[in-house]
Amino acid sequence: MAQNQVKTHGKGANGAQSKEQIHLSFGHQRGPRKDGCQRAGQARVVDLFAGAGGLSLGFERVGFPVIAAYDCWRPAIDCYRLNFEHAVHKFDLLNVNEAIDHISGYKPDIIIGGPPCQDFSSAGKRREGKNADLTSAFASIVVGCNPKIVVMENVPRARASGTFRNAHRKLAQHGYDSFQTVLDASLCGAPQIRKRFFHVAWKPDSGRSLHDLAEYFCAALSTKRLTVRDYMEDELDIEHYYRHPRNYSRRGVFSIDEPSPTIRGVNRPVPPNYRGHPLDTAPVASVRPLTTYERSRIQTFPKSWKWKPHSAKTDSEQLVGNAVPAEMGRFVAQGVAQTLL
Ligand SMILES: C[S@@+](CC[C@H](N)C(=O)[O-])C[C@H]1O[C@@H](n2cnc3c(N)ncnc32)[C@H](O)[C@@H]1O
Repeated sequence: MAQNQVKTHGKGANGAQSKEQIHLSFGHQRGPRKDGCQRAGQARVVDLFAGAGGLSLGFERVGFPVIAAYDCWRPAIDCYRLNFEHAVHKFDLLNVNEAIDHISGYKPDIIIGGPPCQDFSSAGKRREGKNADLTSAFASIVVGCNPKIVVMENVPRARASGTFRNAHRKLAQHGYDSFQTVLDASLCGAPQIRKRFFHVAWKPDSGRSLHDLAEYFCAALSTKRLTVRDYMEDELDIEHYYRHPRNYSRRGVFSIDEPSPTIRGVNRPVPPNYRGHPLDTAPVASVRPLTTYERSRIQTFPKSWKWKPHSAKTDSEQLVGNAVPAEMGRFVAQGVAQTLL
């Protein structure tokens, strides 16, 4: 299997992608890019570790029928069920054999999913623990179900993990070619600096190539980061807001005329001991944190998305922060539809 680095995203001053490269590993390359969007409607998609459904929603926005979703956390199941018509199953995906039996019944053409990432994340512990096992479970479920296309999302750090390398190897041994990239949501239609790793694997088909997908992403990425105001226009009644920093060497006050920092799973009030930071865009005394709803809008969920009544506020905050921004999901799904179908 050849390893190729295809193209560097060179995006200048706004380019979060400038140091990132697209990685392909494949047995062959062939074929021009095709418009396969109309065929998205026939490709059956199953979402694993579905959470609130940000990735599902992105695929649906392109016209893919998402036919089932799986998660093991009750607030995620409740939220997902409130917002989608297709089935969502409460299921521990560590039970790989049971999962394969259940998911195979749907005959998915595409499996998508974001196995939990805390063990890889800079916010979490560095040791590859139980959550990393879920990446292995994802790969085992995929090879057991044998879909044509796989899309896995995770934090960039996951790419360097042993668990991910094993998962990649397992997919390759079962005939999947693969494509890896780190994308920044603010260049993919969401007003937020959020870098995420995407691994697309597929069973090679005549006339199409992962090179086309790599080229599609390079061409489709925006050259300018989307700001909160660009996306939300006059929806917010504020110009600046507070987002609690990980430590006080970082700022906590942001303007809506820039992309939001990464929406995380917790949302803290302004603490009395926050003294301000030289890079704050406004005095801290004049700002408030964003609400759960406002944060969900920055994650590009629609205004009509239902986060309650079933979930506690902290659960909703977690669901919002865990999600793939729907527009980022759409960006990736559009690439798959345009080049692999
Ligand atoms: C990063 S979130 C996924 C976010 C989702 N892709 C989205 O866009 O909204 C990971 C999800 O995996 C679920 N999860 C964790 N362990 C699991 C397990 N053993 N089986 C099934 N789901 C699990 C969590 O409940 C969580 O909702």
